[in-house]
Amino acid sequence: MSFGMHRRWKRRTVRLAAERGGPPPRWLDLCCGTGDMAFLAEQIAGPAARVVGLDFTLPMLAVGRRRQIRDARKAAFVNGDALSLPFRDRTFDVITVGYGLRNIADAAAALREMRRVLVPGGRCVILDFGKPRNPIASALYRAFLRTMMPAVGWLFHRDPETYLYIPESLARYPGQVGVRDMMREAGFENARFEEKLLGTMGINIGEKAGLRKPGLPEDMA
Ligand SMILES: C[S@@+](CC[C@H](N)C(=O)[O-])C[C@H]1O[C@@H](n2cnc3c(N)ncnc32)[C@H](O)[C@@H]1O
Repeated sequence: MSFGMHRRWKRRTVRLAAERGGPPPRWLDLCCGTGDMAFLAEQIAGPAARVVGLDFTLPMLAVGRRRQIRDARKAAFVNGDALSLPFRDRTFDVITVGYGLRNIADAAAALREMRRVLVPGGRCVILDFGKPRNPIASALYRAFLRTMMPAVGWLFHRDPETYLYIPESLARYPGQVGVRDMMREAGFENARFEEKLLGTMGINIGEKAGLRKPGLPEDMA
């Protein structure tokens, strides 16, 4: 549906997260699905990074695990709910989310959970559908979604309703500007975004305040 552009956007998301620098990161890819971004994280952050993908849909994780074995990857896959993460506070240096936040029942609560499991100084990068701020681009985009989603659903699944959840979820989702504000409310610092394709895609970025003191265990930092 993105004519392959989603690959570039996912790579950009992972690169923005990896730019945080420092020692090899402990990396959570939330709503990992079949592992696209978890595998990219492993590739971009290097073999010493410890990457965990989490999702609550078992068949998606099963595909991820099969890909991991087939391609001899190290990323671990965990079954869990983004609204109640099975990790202790301050476990991860980096969190990425690709096309997941829009699908989580309570995005604000998920952002608070993400911040909880980030170390001070940790970074969160979220890729999702955006909302163009230009009214003409916005009208064209809505028309595209209304016509293309049923057509693509019919073409691939003989069911025009398959992808209708996308415009529906987007109607509820606040887009890049709203997510930036929600990140601020959840306590993230430097909440900001990048727009792609006239704002039809958004990459939100934020950090958890505080610096890790080199050489100190997390609990003492
Ligand atoms: C559109 S898929 C994106 C998958 C992957 N990140 C990608 O970009 O290919 C959204 C994923 O979010 C997961 N998801 C939605 N709500 C979740 C929640 N509360 N906890 C864990 N996973 C969730 C779904 O199971 C699904 O795999």
